[in-house]
Amino acid sequence: MQHSSFERDFAAYNGAQRGRAVRPLARRAVQEAGSRPERSVHPAIDLGSGVGVESRFLAENGYTVHSFDVDPSVAAAMGDLSAKLPVHHTTTDLAEISSLPDADLILACMSLPFVRQEAFDDLWRIIRRALRPGGILAVDLFGDRDDWAGTDGTFLTRADTDALLVGLEVISQTEVERDGTSFRGPKHWHTYQVIARRL
Ligand SMILES: C[S@@+](CC[C@H](N)C(=O)[O-])C[C@H]1O[C@@H](n2cnc3c(N)ncnc32)[C@H](O)[C@@H]1O
Repeated sequence: MQHSSFERDFAAYNGAQRGRAVRPLARRAVQEAGSRPERSVHPAIDLGSGVGVESRFLAENGYTVHSFDVDPSVAAAMGDLSAKLPVHHTTTDLAEISSLPDADLILACMSLPFVRQEAFDDLWRIIRRALRPGGILAVDLFGDRDDWAGTDGTFLTRADTDALLVGLEVISQTEVERDGTSFRGPKHWHTYQVIARRL
């Protein structure tokens, strides 16, 4: 079992993501938030962007994207993207940030669970504060029955997840538990996928 985020090989994972399809969570988030007219300056945030498949999609849909990822190996791909589209990338551990730009859409595909537990509540407060009224939050979270629960990261009960969403309009909250595979092999998944709007 991998006990810490540092043992997870995000560079290998991210390297294998080039050319894959945009994640449905990102598509649904844009549907809810609205595609923006060309040259608009609506800010969006992509937390744990990887190589920027979703950041590109958000930018192509009229958002100015602020992307963040701890993996330095994605910086070159993000730099290439920034040369063509309004994407501003920062290499950082999300556990270390103290603020985020205000945004109409905040996306986190399969990334927040890797933030260490003791930093998660502060990060969630920062995310909630950055979300503009009417803005859309679209995130994957991991549950306490996930195979990786107990390793370095944030694994939540259903009640924990409900508590995070108090005060938001929950558009969808899908809990899934299944045996499947991860990038590294067989795995029991317990996940929540949430789309919510700031009132
Ligand atoms: C499973 S990958 C998902 C990447 C991309 N969002 C996707 O959907 O393919 C997790 C991503 O989160 C990043 N990540 C993990 N822990 C992080 C942290 N504490 N701060 C910032 N990024 C982190 C990893 O480098 C990786 O790019």
